[in-house]
This record gives sequence, C-alpha cells and structure tokens, in this order.
Amino acid sequence: MEEEYIKAAKAIKQADYLVAFTGAGISAECGIPTFRGKDGLWTKFKPEEIATYQAFIRNPEFVWQWYIMRMEKLKDTKPSEAHKILAEWEKKGILKTVITQNVDELHQKAGSKNVIELHGNIWRIKCIYCDNKKRLKKLPKSMPRCDKCGNIMRPDVVWFGEALDPLILQLAFDEGLKSDVMIVIGTSGVVYPAGHIPVRAKTMGAFIIEINPEESAITPVADVYLAEKASVAMKKLKNLLSSL
Ligand code: OAD
Ligand code: ZN
Repeated sequence: MEEEYIKAAKAIKQADYLVAFTGAGISAECGIPTFRGKDGLWTKFKPEEIATYQAFIRNPEFVWQWYIMRMEKLKDTKPSEAHKILAEWEKKGILKTVITQNVDELHQKAGSKNVIELHGNIWRIKCIYCDNKKRLKKLPKSMPRCDKCGNIMRPDVVWFGEALDPLILQLAFDEGLKSDVMIVIGTSGVVYPAGHIPVRAKTMGAFIIEINPEESAITPVADVYLAEKASVAMKKLKNLLSSL
C-alpha cells in the first residue's frame, strides 16, 4: 500500500497538468451524505420524486423543502482536509483545475478558484420560464418566485434526465484531456456523462489516481487505487510530496 502512495506522489510531483475530479465522497467527512451506498440519499429518497423536472412541476413546494433542508445543513458545513489540500495545491501551482459533480460549493469554501461544476450549484436558482438566474443571498423559507416574471424559481442543479450545460461539459472534457495526471476522489463514477471524463482522460494517456474506500466504476482504469477516505489519503500524499 505504501508503495502505491509513493507512486501516486511521484506522479503528482512530475505532473505538467494535474486535474482533480471529485464526487460526493470528498464531502462525506464533512457530514454531507453521499447519494449511493449504505447511508446514501438515494436509499432514503426516490430520485424520481425529488430530482427530476417532472417531480418538481408536480410538487415544487415539496422539492423546495428537500433542497432547503440540504441547504440548512450545508450552510455551516466546513470543507474537509481533502478540499483544503486541493485548494492549497492550486495556490502552489501544483493543481490546475477541480472538476466536480458536487453542488455543495465546498471546494470554493476551501479556497479553490478554478472549479468546474458539472451538476450546478445548490446556492444558485433559476426561473423555469424566463432567463432570470440568481445567487441566493440567504436561505429561502419557502419556494422562491421570479422577480421578473413571477414564475417559479428552481435550484440551478442538474436533475435526472436533464442535459448538462454544453459549455461547462466541453470545458470539463477539455481540461480532462489536457491533464497528464488526474486524481479522482470520492465518486462512484456511474453517472454520465460526468463519469466518462476520467475514462476519456485515461484513454488519452493520463495517469489516473483514485481515492475511494470502496472500488468504483473508475477503479478498472486507475493506475493507482488508494482504498482510503479522502482526507486520510490526501494528507498522506501531501506529506509524501514534501519529502520527495
Ligand atoms: P455517489 O454517492 O454515487 O458515490 C460516492 C462515492 O464516494 C462512493 O463511491 C463512495 O465509496 C465514496 N466515498 C464515501 N465516503 C468517502 C470518503 N470519506 N472519501 C472518499 N470517498 C468516499 O456520489 P457521486 O459519484 O458524486 O448527480 O454521484 C454522482 C452523481 O449522482 C451526483 O452528482 C448526483 C447523483 O445523482 C446529480 O444530482 C445529477
Ligand atoms: Zn422569470
């Protein structure tokens, strides 16, 4: 195992273009539940009842209550050591970009600047009718209404069956393809097109490091697989890097 960490640290040290690709697992140690797995959100809630446009139109107040509940929890949540180390590496020029599937903004809270949010951001809302988009200044108590046209505002996140923003997706693929080393942290890798990003990077020659206590859909393409929690593995890598 120790050898695998050394291999990963050496790859990071020698990388010309290091990119991180993250999922819900990087926020798990902050107390934010993941989607799949034992305590995952999708074991307690049915995605088709809260995470589709149809569900929202059927019962927007209900879907909003679910989002408000998640926002309440997130509001005071602090980033994990793994988030912080990624931000530190970006500041030092070691890491170029974070591509995340998370909507929790914890990467930015930790200080990361170059973050590509594939699935949107829970703190942004958009009108279902006009092009009005805004950032929430404070937690809504109930369903917000559009101040331009009066229609319903929805969270600016990607729901099941919805397309990702094509420009953001293109940007993420471009960064993925530019990377010679990609560090994949805390994702099951089963949601597409996001899950294709590390696989495409690999086929273009990138060295893939995966951190995940459980094997995932990414593990078969990982050059180094570190079966550990995000913060534990990242702290080890950080220490090793300073000794190389
Ligand atoms: P998942 O819930 O599918 O997977 C979370 C992954 O994190 C699993 O592989 C866990 O083993 C791993 N994990 C758990 N604790 C960890 C820890 N402490 N350190 C590192 N890894 C840990 O979450 P995502 O892969 O992010 O999409 O899910 C992808 C998408 O599915 C989400 O963005 C969301 C969801 O439906 C949308 O909302 C569109
Ligand atoms: Zn509107």
